[in-house]
Amino acid sequence: MLKTLHLTFILLSLSSFIGRVIISEIKPTLLEIKIIKIAPHIINSILIISGIALIFQGNWFASDYGWIIAKIFVLFIYIGLGILALKLKGQNKWLAFAAAVLCVIYIGVVAVTKNAFFFL
Ligand code: HEM
Repeated sequence: MLKTLHLTFILLSLSSFIGRVIISEIKPTLLEIKIIKIAPHIINSILIISGIALIFQGNWFASDYGWIIAKIFVLFIYIGLGILALKLKGQNKWLAFAAAVLCVIYIGVVAVTKNAFFFL
C-alpha cells in the first residue's frame, strides 16, 4: 500500500517535471499559473514523506542503509538539476534535463537492488 503510493508519486513527480520542462520551452507563461507552480511541491513532498514512512515500515535503519543515503543524496542532485533544466535555455537546459532523468533512473535502480554501487 505504502510502496504503491511511493511508486505512484515517483511517476507523478517525473511526469510533472517533464511536463514543466516542455511547457518552459513552448509557453513559459503557463508556469506562472498557481496550480502548475504548487502541484509539483505537493507531489514531491508526498514522494519524500512516503519514502521516509517506508524506511520505518521496513525498519531499514536497523540494517544496511547505505543505499537509502545514496537515494537521498542523489535526490538533492535531481532537485538541483531540475531547477536548472527549468531555468536554463538551449543545450545546457537539455543537458540538465537528461542528467535529472538519469538521477531518477539511478535512484530507482538503487531502490530495487539496495546497492548504491550496483554498476560495479
Ligand atoms: C525520485 C525519487 C525516488 C525514486 C525514483 C524511488 C524509487 C523507488 C522504487 C522503485 C522503490 C521500490 C523498490 C522495490 O520494491 O524493490 C522504492 C522503495 C523505497 N524507497 Fe524510494 N524512491 C525515491 C525517493 C525516495 C526517498 C526520498 C526515500 C527516503 C527518504 C525513499 C525510500 C524508499 C524506501 C525505504 C523504499 C522501500 C524499500 C523496500 O522496503 O523494499 N525513496 N523507491
